[in-house]
Amino acid sequence: MGYDLLLKQCEASIDPSLPFASLSNVSSVLFHEIEGLNWVGFYFAKHNRLELAMFQGKPACAILPFGKGVCAAGFGKNETVVVDDVLSFPGHIACDSASRSEIVLPLRLDGRPIGVLDIDSDRPSRFGKEETEFLTKLRDLLEEKLPLKELSPALFD
Ligand code: SME
Repeated sequence: MGYDLLLKQCEASIDPSLPFASLSNVSSVLFHEIEGLNWVGFYFAKHNRLELAMFQGKPACAILPFGKGVCAAGFGKNETVVVDDVLSFPGHIACDSASRSEIVLPLRLDGRPIGVLDIDSDRPSRFGKEETEFLTKLRDLLEEKLPLKELSPALFD
């Protein structure tokens, strides 16, 4: 399936009144439709760390500290981070030793990061220009359609 069609399939999985179900189904669509992925999921910031939320794949680290690893880098910089070879990324946190490349996109509310979309592949350099463009469009769609504030209440206490 091409990325234009996949974006439509993701859009069809988003129900603004059901943010948890929507992110679960979006992670499932990505995991099953994009070749060569071994993990797709979301982490949200809470209590000065990133906590595991909806995902597809093997069990993963439930807590990621701020300041270490690829997810925290994307979150902290509020920028997409693409890692072609996770073994050469200082501080990479290996939830699955099979992972070889990774992309992390911050999820933002009013421009501020509140979590990340994290995707791993067991192939090196799996995430190129096409994947980055598609996932950026998807991330923007999630921010536009979903009440993300409900997903990270501790940030807004
Ligand atoms: N590799 C990530 C940890 C999360 S797992 O890949 C699911 C990191 O370095 O932050």
